[in-house]
Amino acid sequence: MEYIFIYNVTYSSILRRTLTFEVYVLRIGHRPARDKRITTHVGLVARAFGARGMILDCRDEKVLSSLSMVCKNWGGPFHLSFTEDPYDYCIKWKNGGGEIIHLTMYGINLPLVINDIKKSCKNKLVVVGAEKVPRFYYEIADWNVAIGNQPHSEVAALAVFLLELLNGWVFRSSFENAKIKIIPSEKGKRVIKVSNDI
Ligand SMILES: C[S@@+](CC[C@H](N)C(=O)[O-])C[C@H]1O[C@@H](n2cnc3c(N)ncnc32)[C@H](O)[C@@H]1O
Repeated sequence: MEYIFIYNVTYSSILRRTLTFEVYVLRIGHRPARDKRITTHVGLVARAFGARGMILDCRDEKVLSSLSMVCKNWGGPFHLSFTEDPYDYCIKWKNGGGEIIHLTMYGINLPLVINDIKKSCKNKLVVVGAEKVPRFYYEIADWNVAIGNQPHSEVAALAVFLLELLNGWVFRSSFENAKIKIIPSEKGKRVIKVSNDI
């Protein structure tokens, strides 16, 4: 990997998406013994595709420390938290004026609902499951959204959903306080180290 050291450089910053709502991801059904990697990937996708943070339904310090390390090096803001009572979290989210989108293969396909979801300026909590998802989420959700009606993965479903919801922000993304940045290259790896503190 090639590192280029640059100091005192101001990068043309692409403004963070200006939206009337914020998006958070609630990861439910996390099983610490077997889901560390996939839940970490849910968090990585949430951050890279423009969500403001991820809430996990149990305390898993390993997942938290992996994602925190990514934020430390590649920038933020991206908020990480745990809830021991995800039902209560959802109820409070709705009572606070937010809405809930549950990604499920049993839902209505994305193209049929995405415009309505985008029109609403309420903050959005995107729920993704692991194994069997309790009925509660199907009922509390404002939208049960399918990325096709075949089983695949919470990581893929989240990526496709955020790509559409945030108008491809992943391709224009910018993160504050990044210590390293990539210079897109046709060949090879070009990485700028913007801080020595790494
Ligand atoms: C491995 S799946 C398990 C699904 C589980 N059998 C259920 O009760 O829904 C894990 C998660 O991936 C997401 N997912 C999988 N396929 C999907 C699809 N076609 N559309 C939307 N989300 C999907 C959902 O969030 C789901 O909870």
